Amino acid sequence: MTHRIAPSILSADFARLGEEVASVIEAGADWIHFDVMDNHYVPNLTIGPGVAQAIKPHCVRADGSKVPLDVHLMVQPVDALAVAFAKAGADLISFHPEASAHVDRTLQLIHGEGCKAGLVFNPATPLDVLEWAIDKVDLILIMSVNPGFGGQSFIASALRKVAQARKIIDAEKARSGRDIALEVDGGIKVDNIRAVAEAGADTFVAGSAIFGQPDYKAVIDAMRAQLAAAAR
Ligand code: DX5
Ligand code: ZN
Repeated sequence: MTHRIAPSILSADFARLGEEVASVIEAGADWIHFDVMDNHYVPNLTIGPGVAQAIKPHCVRADGSKVPLDVHLMVQPVDALAVAFAKAGADLISFHPEASAHVDRTLQLIHGEGCKAGLVFNPATPLDVLEWAIDKVDLILIMSVNPGFGGQSFIASALRKVAQARKIIDAEKARSGRDIALEVDGGIKVDNIRAVAEAGADTFVAGSAIFGQPDYKAVIDAMRAQLAAAAR
C-alpha cells in the first residue's frame, strides 16, 4: 500500500507560512493538510481562501512536481467556502456531512470545480452516509480527535472506524474499480502511526508531531520507518 504523510500547517509558524510549507515539503511531505475553522462548526478560527491562494505557489517539490493541497473544511454552511477554496487552488476538499444540508449536492459541487471530494467523520459520527454517497467520494477522513484544535490526544476508537472504512473502500474498489483514499487526522505521532496503518489507513495527517519538532525530516523519516514495518 502507498502511504502518504500530510503535515497539518495548523501547527506551523503562521508568520512564516510560505517557508514552513517549503520546509515540510523538502522534508518529505506528500500532501499539505490545510485546516479551515469557522468559530461556528468548531470553536476555533483559522485561515481562509486567501491564505490557500498565497501558499499554493509553495506547494511544489524541488523537481517541479506539485504537492496536493488537502483542504479540510470545519465550517457550516459548506458550499460557498468549498467553491472559494477550489478557486484558491485546493486539490482535495473535505467536509463534515453534518455541516452540509445536502451532502450529495456538495460532493457534486466540489467535483464540478475540478477537485477531489472527501467526507470527514468525527469520533462519534457513524459512517452510515457512505452507503448512499460512496460513489461520489474520493477520500474518507476519519477524525481521531474532536475537530477544533491541534495537539490533542488520539482517540483509540478511531482504529475500529478506520477498519470499517477500509472494508467499505475495498468493496467499492471491487464494485467500480475506483481508488478512495483513507486519511486519519488527530493525535498521530511516530509511536502510533503504525497501528493506524495496520487498521487500514493510507494517509496520515500530523500537525504538532511534525511542526513541534525542530527537524521535520527526522520526524517524517521516523514515521516512514514505522509505516514500512506495518503489516499492510
Ligand atoms: C483538528 C485538525 C487537525 C489537527 C491535527 O481539528 O483537523 O488537522 O491540526 O493536529 P495534531 O496532529 O496536532 O493532532
Ligand atoms: Zn484536519
